[in-house]
Amino acid sequence: MNLKETIRSIPDWPIEGVVFRDLTTLMQNPKSFAYACDLLYDRYKDKGIDKIVGIDARGFVFGGVVAYKLGIGFVPVRKKGKLPGSTIQETYALEYGTDTLEIHEDAISPGEKVVIVDDLIATGGTVGAAVKLVKNLGADLLECAFVVELPDLKGRDQIDGCPVFAMVEFE
Ligand code: PRP
Ligand code: HPA
Repeated sequence: MNLKETIRSIPDWPIEGVVFRDLTTLMQNPKSFAYACDLLYDRYKDKGIDKIVGIDARGFVFGGVVAYKLGIGFVPVRKKGKLPGSTIQETYALEYGTDTLEIHEDAISPGEKVVIVDDLIATGGTVGAAVKLVKNLGADLLECAFVVELPDLKGRDQIDGCPVFAMVEFE
């Protein structure tokens, strides 16, 4: 299965000069969507993972399936103002300004083994904030997993010390 060729590239979106890697085409293709989810399932099935943490919004698509297949719980990390219970927050830098991610403070118990799942790592700001959130709850973070990595943006540097798994790279 060549996952990469099922991802659509859209030039000059959302701004001129950016080539946007559009994973909706991968998700719409049942073979590539199943392949990506199965790869994560096979990778984590014997690792004693307690919970999958998915990042708003596309991390919910892959992370939800993987949690279901593993038979474990799914924990959403959401953009601010969406979670109804008591939360902890982390603010991270965007190209212009900042954004804030939240997690329910009772979503993970200290010592629980978790994997963070998102569709893509670019600058790493988003997953960097998610890593801080789960660590602040005392999680044992095994790895951060992505379908796509944009290695030129050095996102891995934002999560120093945490292993990264990515299926596909784009320059
Ligand atoms: C995208 C993507 C990652 C993040 C990666 O989400 O799904 O979560 O950006 O970028 P970074 O590594 O530079 O932080 P986005 O914030 O566009 O939100 P969405 O999933 O709600 O569209
Ligand atoms: N695709 C999807 N999400 C993204 C991208 C991209 O190319 N860059 C930053 N977030």
